[in-house]
Amino acid sequence: MYWISIGVSVYIEEFWWAIPFALFGLPIILAFFIGATCDFAFLAKKYNYYQFIFCISWIRLVQPSIPQSAKWDIEEFWRNLDLHINLSEKPGEVDLIIWSEAALVVPYVYEPVKIKILNMLQNKDAILITGGVTENGKVNQEGEIYTSLYALTPEGEQLFEYHKSHLVPFGEYMPLKKLLPLKKLTPGIMDYTPGDGGLVKVDRHNLTIKPLICYESIFPNFVRTTNEALDLIINVTNDAWYEQLITVYPP
Ligand SMILES: *[C@@H]1O[C@H](CO)[C@@H](O)[C@H](O)[C@H]1NC(C)=O
Ligand SMILES: *[C@@H]1O[C@H](CO)[C@@H](O)[C@H](O)[C@H]1NC(C)=O
Ligand SMILES: *[C@@H]1O[C@H](CO)[C@@H](O)[C@H](O)[C@H]1NC(C)=O
Repeated sequence: MYWISIGVSVYIEEFWWAIPFALFGLPIILAFFIGATCDFAFLAKKYNYYQFIFCISWIRLVQPSIPQSAKWDIEEFWRNLDLHINLSEKPGEVDLIIWSEAALVVPYVYEPVKIKILNMLQNKDAILITGGVTENGKVNQEGEIYTSLYALTPEGEQLFEYHKSHLVPFGEYMPLKKLLPLKKLTPGIMDYTPGDGGLVKVDRHNLTIKPLICYESIFPNFVRTTNEALDLIINVTNDAWYEQLITVYPP
């Protein structure tokens, strides 16, 4: 308003008639504009159009703060799972529930785990996207395990399974395995097999998603993308490795 009043006063003899407009007209128009925007937002929320207009899905991120030492402990497993479920079931509308890297250290098809998860999803009518260890179901030389991010529906359908493609040397595989007869530093005797990267889809919410599992996110070429290509980047990690430290890219 200050600049406009200066502008108007430059040729004050010629444009004196614009003074009332500058003083009152513009504020009135701006007030209508702001009021209409607020009304529009209010009505969109009231009639649930905001999902249609802004394509929003309600997302719940679950951070259970489980110490690394308790993660692979069979005694702690059920408590950890209950904690995830309790946090996921808190009141409020939700479409996607996201758990962290390696939140499920057993395959979800294990019946007692599956029952608990499907119960939770049915109560919330939501999709779970979780990190976890998965396998290809084969044995001996052909058997492979993966550090994965996958999605489950309330009907028990698996929507996608993304395999971490940049594995952490020494933690998830042993470099120069043939030369160094050492075991990797994390639980389990098998090395993980890397995936191919890429995008995944949740058609139910029309979402195209770029998953990043922990330190995949430090490779610029791997992360680079455009808004046209996708709706959401899901960047999961397991910070528990570093205990109280705040880190940038924990493996
Ligand atoms: C989860 O919630 C149930 C029921 O409220 C409670 O009994 C249980 O202790 C909770 N478990 C954890 C790990 O918080
Ligand atoms: C997804 O997109 C299709 C086609 O554009 C549309 O008909 C459908 O309503 C959309 N679904 C959601 C959940 O937004
Ligand atoms: C992914 O998360 C890490 C922290 O865990 C952060 O440093 C990094 O910038 C994130 N990457 C992207 C692409 O958002």
